[in-house]
Amino acid sequence: MAGKGVVTPAKDRADLVECLKEAQRQYGYVPEEVIAALAESLAIPVHEVYGVASFYSYISTRPLGRNVIRVCKSLPCYLKSAEMIMEAVAKELGIGVGETTADGRFSFELTNCIGLCDQAPAMLINQDPHVDLTPEKIKQILKSYH
Ligand code: FES
Repeated sequence: MAGKGVVTPAKDRADLVECLKEAQRQYGYVPEEVIAALAESLAIPVHEVYGVASFYSYISTRPLGRNVIRVCKSLPCYLKSAEMIMEAVAKELGIGVGETTADGRFSFELTNCIGLCDQAPAMLINQDPHVDLTPEKIKQILKSYH
């Protein structure tokens, strides 16, 4: 696609995350061309830029579906059976973590704590929080996203 890689070059490493976020906002993910351009502007290897990008669960290096599910994988949610929620999402959509449905409707990601531990297990779909999850609730929740 034309124009990718036209993200403000990073001034220094501290600026790198901001540049990655900017690309994420602009394209919905960080395209390979942008990663390469940022690596070049900082004179660091491409894999280092990938490393930084993959550290943040809100930055994706591949195109995502229309709705992005982020199930919390941090300890308080984990202790409240977040694994069962992950399994329910995977079963309902027929995809694994890091995958997107063939129709582009959902991407399934995990995230670190989203600040809803008191209502664990929790997840976000796009910006919407969903809390006190049970496997039974998943089907109903997913139905409301098109
Ligand atoms: S640990 Fe899941 S929301 Fe905080």
